[in-house]
Amino acid sequence: MLDRPQTDYTRDLLDAVPGRGTVRPAADEREALLEIKDLRKVFTSRQSFFAEPRRVVAADSINLELTRGDTLAVVGESGSGKSTLARMVLRLIEPDGGTIRFDGAAVREMKGETLRQFRRRVQIVFQDPYASLDPRLKIGESIVRGPMAFGASRAEAVAIATRWLEKVGLGAHALNRFPHEFSGGQRQRICIARALALDPVCLIADEAVSALDVSVQAQVLKLLSDLKAEIGLSMLFITHDLRVAREIADKIVVMQNGRIVEQAPAADLFDAPRADYTRRLLDAVPGRDFFVRRALADAV
Ligand SMILES: Nc1ncnc2c1ncn2[C@@H]1O[C@H](COP(=O)(O)OP(=O)(O)OP(=O)(O)O)[C@@H](O)[C@H]1O
Ligand SMILES: [Mg+2]
Repeated sequence: MLDRPQTDYTRDLLDAVPGRGTVRPAADEREALLEIKDLRKVFTSRQSFFAEPRRVVAADSINLELTRGDTLAVVGESGSGKSTLARMVLRLIEPDGGTIRFDGAAVREMKGETLRQFRRRVQIVFQDPYASLDPRLKIGESIVRGPMAFGASRAEAVAIATRWLEKVGLGAHALNRFPHEFSGGQRQRICIARALALDPVCLIADEAVSALDVSVQAQVLKLLSDLKAEIGLSMLFITHDLRVAREIADKIVVMQNGRIVEQAPAADLFDAPRADYTRRLLDAVPGRDFFVRRALADAV
């Protein structure tokens, strides 16, 4: 009826609908950048030739959404399946079932140039800033390789590297130095600069601040939130530490044994955790959020 209104009255009513014909989502109705549905991964490993294979369900019916421009924290104790989830998103391991959509496209079906561009647009920063940087390469060399692989000239890539090193608070003099000349926190900033030099839309941080002591942790968290605000980066932030999740995340997903047991906006989860497991994780936080808040205040 609405396509071919029969009466003048219907036509008048239709004409009165604001914006009809140019139907757009409301400004605050933000879209999902990453959509995960029913994701599943089972590992089977044999300890010895005679032993029964051990079967671990590392991801079971995982459903989640990362809204564009948001930070989604994935929290859970060791072995809960957080890194497995990240590795499936990055196509480092193949899921046993489910779908992953990034910016509307099915990640599991990507190939060729589409996959290459996906790997540029989604970057990861790992826990260990010592293992993530090649000790034989100068920092500048480590950073310029990415942009050059995607068509930048050496001069352009050096300019990009310099800009990012400055943004993460290190400056151009870092270009000609080696990883061992930097502290853990500085190396993590270098890893962030290297990831961002590829101009990603989404950053996956897998325990990216876990190896750092609490005041350096607060500085790196502040850097990440500043970058998020400045360049509109979306983040999947993996941590076992609920304090850290609260500082950085808009929404928190809690994982236990490969399953999501709770997901909620960060503040709601802290004020009224619904799952027993989340409550236990919260009780395990020493001094609750006091330490990070204080360290953050010091870092400003
Ligand atoms: N390649 C693999 N082969 C066999 N089992 C694996 C493999 N990778 C992970 N697992 C198992 O899957 C489960 C989830 O592991 P995962 O690394 O995702 O946990 P996590 O939450 O990242 O833990 P952590 O906080 O310690 O990093 C664990 O029981 C782990 O032993
Ligand atoms: Mg892990």
